Amino acid sequence: MNYRHAFHAGNFADLVKHAALLRLLAAMAGDGSLRVIDTHAGRGLYDLAGPEAMKSGEAQAGIVRLMAASDAPSQFQALTAAVLALNRDRAVRRYPGSPWLIAEALRAGDTYLACELRAEEHRALHDLMTGRPGVRTLFADGFDAALAEAPRSGPTLLLIDPPFERPDDYPRIVQVLARLQRRERALSALVWLPLKDLETFDGFLRDLEDEVPSPLLIAETRMRPLTDPLKMNGCALVLLGAPHGMAHDLRAICGWTAETLGDGGEARVYGL
Ligand SMILES: C[S@@+](CC[C@H](N)C(=O)[O-])C[C@H]1O[C@@H](n2cnc3c(N)ncnc32)[C@H](O)[C@@H]1O
Repeated sequence: MNYRHAFHAGNFADLVKHAALLRLLAAMAGDGSLRVIDTHAGRGLYDLAGPEAMKSGEAQAGIVRLMAASDAPSQFQALTAAVLALNRDRAVRRYPGSPWLIAEALRAGDTYLACELRAEEHRALHDLMTGRPGVRTLFADGFDAALAEAPRSGPTLLLIDPPFERPDDYPRIVQVLARLQRRERALSALVWLPLKDLETFDGFLRDLEDEVPSPLLIAETRMRPLTDPLKMNGCALVLLGAPHGMAHDLRAICGWTAETLGDGGEARVYGL
């Protein structure tokens, strides 16, 4: 496992994923105690002045531009508020990962399980989450943990955000969603995927449609025309059990990101 999210924290793809995640958490609040499972959690909080972020420059082209923007849609407000709360002196030095955002959004009675398979990332995550009620971290494979730990009833949100270093990440996502949805039809899930070439993404969607009978909501953020399949040309979110109004929110989030931070970018939001 070579992937280190510190190089990518706060990039355009994090903005899309985290803004959507916060909208989902807000929409699901109040349906009873919520159970959140984050299969690929990372370390939880990132230093944008560290060598990895400085080397990639991705946060400068992402969260730094979002924080300076005056035209960002209101769907980013919860994310920018979280970033502001972590950076009181205005310079954007710290960026929250999914564990931080989820843990901050929990209400009494909600629970959160954060899985991470890289030892030093899990150590940092564990230290960061220690003492938070309802929060547990696991040094374990997130797909296996989701299958073992997802409850059989009640509102559950699954966040699946793998590094896609291994070719079996795609079939494992399909397998986990199919098996968990067979157990609990009311499962909600947010899956993040890279957009390189369309063949890989379309193949994944076809497999998912074959195995998971429920409607899917897809949001593509294309940062540039998809002409070079070796580049990450954008990202996609795939949602299962999306709440009412989510398509509208995703159009705003992905549209602003592609058009403002992209280079000839465009967003596509559709159901399957
Ligand atoms: C894209 S990052 C996660 C970012 C995080 N979800 C966020 O939004 O802040 C993917 C993480 O998954 C970890 N990882 C890789 N394979 C894993 C597996 N099978 N189970 C759990 N974690 C894994 C990597 O070490 C990495 O920290």
